[in-house]
Order: sequence, then structure tokens, then C-alpha cells
Amino acid sequence: MNFYKSKVIPGIHVPIKHTPEDMEIITNVASSFNPVAIFELGTLQGGLTLLLHEACPEVAIVTFDQKPVEDEAAFKVLFRGPGSVIAYTGDIFKPAITDFILTMFRACSFGPKLLYCDDGNKPLEVNTFGPLLASGDLLGVHDWGSEVKMLDVAQTLVDFTPHREEEMKNREVRFFLKK
Ligand SMILES: C[S@@+](CC[C@H](N)C(=O)[O-])C[C@H]1O[C@@H](n2cnc3c(N)ncnc32)[C@H](O)[C@@H]1O
Repeated sequence: MNFYKSKVIPGIHVPIKHTPEDMEIITNVASSFNPVAIFELGTLQGGLTLLLHEACPEVAIVTFDQKPVEDEAAFKVLFRGPGSVIAYTGDIFKPAITDFILTMFRACSFGPKLLYCDDGNKPLEVNTFGPLLASGDLLGVHDWGSEVKMLDVAQTLVDFTPHREEEMKNREVRFFLKK
């Protein structure tokens, strides 16, 4: 397991399931895309949530996991202060939660959103939530080439164009912009 080391608060390290190279690319993409909201599917300990929060400190972040976040450091920074991060516990594929996510997508229709898929079933995430995004939204996917392959999501990605494709070579992450 890697750790995301807070750039803002000394001594805060939160476990994260991303390589340092992927952390760097996600930071760059998120901060330059400048979304109005970020949705993360798969919080785990909150390492990527903290990275996204520090990359886009003004942006509302909503993160989902079927299990509550347990990491104490993440709690201190993300979920107990006056910040803009909200963590929901629930199975994202249960119809009530999927509907709830769609409702929140619609509430953020005043600007582009970033949806990052990092849950237990990436092909199903992309194929369920990708079609719910609006034109101009950005879709991020982790474990590209291992847990999710182009063939699994090709039908959904017909409506997207690869985002900063050149920089993603030899990375486990991909981004796609909705047409
Ligand atoms: C790969 S981890 C997320 C890693 C995290 N984004 C990071 O970078 O550190 C995947 C998470 O997805 C959660 N998960 C798996 N299936 C889920 C589902 N159907 N609904 C909600 N969460 C789920 C697991 O509990 C696990 O914490």
C-alpha cells in the first residue's frame, strides 16, 4: 500500500491504492480540469479523496464506499472539519444509491463534473455511471488494462473522447471527456 502525504498538514499520511506516478497525473488532470464537483466511487481509507481535496481545495467532493472510512488521519482532515468533502456509505449498485448519485449529478449541472471510478467492479461502474454524465464531464478510471479493458466499456466510451491520452501511457489510469 502506498501513502498520500498531505501537502498542507505536516504528518498526515493516508493509505492510497495508487502509484506515485498515477497520483501525480491525477493531481494534474483534476486541478487543470477545474470541475464544479468531484465524485469518487471507492473511498477505502480516503487517500485519493485527500489528494483530490488538496488538488482542488475549492471543489465539493462526494465519495462513496460500501464500508465506512476507518483511517484516523483521513477523518481528521476530510470528514471532521469544515471542508467540502462528504463521504457516503452504501453499495453504489443498489438502485436507491444509483438514483441518489444521478440526483446529485443533476444538481451539479451548472458546470463540468469529474467522476472517478475506483470501486470493486470498474467495467460495471463505467457502464452504469458513464451514461449518466453530461456533455463536458470527465470520467476517470483506475486499474485500466487490468481490472477494466477497452472491450468491457467500448460501448459506453463511444460517447467520450480520450483526455490527455499521451500522458497516460504506462499508467494505470485513464480519463475520457464526454462529447
Ligand atoms: C480500490 S479500493 C478504493 C481505493 C481508493 N480510491 C484509493 O485510491 O485509495 C475499492 C473500494 O471500493 C469499495 N467497493 C467495492 N464495491 C463497492 C460497491 N458496490 N459499492 C460501494 N463501494 C464498493 C471497497 O469497499 C473498497 O474500499
